Amino acid sequence: MLPGQRVAGLHHAGGGTQPVTAQEIISAAAPTAPLLSVRDLSVRAGALPLVHEISFDLEPGTMTALVGESGSGKSLTAQAILGLLNREVYAVAGTAMTFQGQALGFDGQSRPRGFHGELTGYVMQDPSSALDPTMTVGRQIAEMFVVHRGMDRRSALGEAARMLDRVRIPDAGARIDDYPHQFSGGMKQRVLIAMAVALSPRLLVADEPTTALDVTVQADILALIDDLRREMQMAVLIITHDFGVVYQCADRVMVMYAGKLVEGGATLQITESGRHPYTRGLIASIPDLDDLDRPVVAIPGQPPRPERSWDGSCAFQPRCSFKAPRCAAEAPEMETLGGGALVRCFEWRRVEESPS
Ligand SMILES: Nc1ncnc2c1ncn2[C@@H]1O[C@H](COP(=O)(O)OP(=O)(O)OP(=O)(O)O)[C@@H](O)[C@H]1O
Ligand SMILES: [Mg+2]
Repeated sequence: MLPGQRVAGLHHAGGGTQPVTAQEIISAAAPTAPLLSVRDLSVRAGALPLVHEISFDLEPGTMTALVGESGSGKSLTAQAILGLLNREVYAVAGTAMTFQGQALGFDGQSRPRGFHGELTGYVMQDPSSALDPTMTVGRQIAEMFVVHRGMDRRSALGEAARMLDRVRIPDAGARIDDYPHQFSGGMKQRVLIAMAVALSPRLLVADEPTTALDVTVQADILALIDDLRREMQMAVLIITHDFGVVYQCADRVMVMYAGKLVEGGATLQITESGRHPYTRGLIASIPDLDDLDRPVVAIPGQPPRPERSWDGSCAFQPRCSFKAPRCAAEAPEMETLGGGALVRCFEWRRVEESPS
């Protein structure tokens, strides 16, 4: 376990092993109504299947990490939910998607009023184009309050300064007059977070918000997001390929491989007794600062190309040390194991029994 790991959620094990139905996922979730509910979300680019039948719920006020290697479909999943994918390139489909109980269309166009900004905030993966280099940071944040709240410029600038202070930018009142290039990478990321949460959204989607930053700054940014989550009672979907991020602040984890969810559950359960060999592989590939004798082992091989990744076999089996004959002959379904835990692996019992 890494230092700073949060004990999160309940730890359940055992239970049934049938393929999961949408209804079972719903009843396995916490008793509160989900903020966001997604069923069988799929994304294609032309004939190429990139995201396959993703189903999950996000509970209000919680932090969920979506984890997986580069190319696994994390950003496409987030953008499909937010309705941001270019419809000329991508086809999005599914059986149901709701936000606060309201249906969201898969076409990306049918979003409730205020969905972008007031209900959801988004910190995109490549933020270099997110800030206008010709406009002061204060004006860019203030614009949110002018457009969405009808404030006059002066009050909006006051709110912008308050937001910069809230994301802990020192001397915020003076810095509203600075331009983006006058901010360091970490400070720029804080500005983008300030813009994303300016209107107190119910959900913040943060796509790899720490990847480009050095390690100490990464930890500060994560702590900031977690504090904002608590203060604003906001759900957070944080996208990362780094399990260190998960340890630091996620309540729940969803692990994605080659466009499919392969495991999901409470952070403690996933990190201590993950049942998918891929999850185990991701965890084994990060150094354990409490146990420097534990070897760091990279997952061998590469993820498959999307063309036929799940056709008639498990997409992970070429890289899997738990592989059985069945894995090359059949693609596993997602199974529910109680306590909201899900796993897509024929051999999960053997994985669970092996020491992590
Ligand atoms: N228009 C497209 N045509 C073909 N393939 C595409 C297209 N758009 C995305 N892809 C592929 O879909 C896969 C998933 O992309 P996505 O950006 O969601 O990955 P990711 O998990 O966010 O990866 P990273 O960690 O690198 O950000 C990638 O392999 C990507 O190359
Ligand atoms: Mg991405």
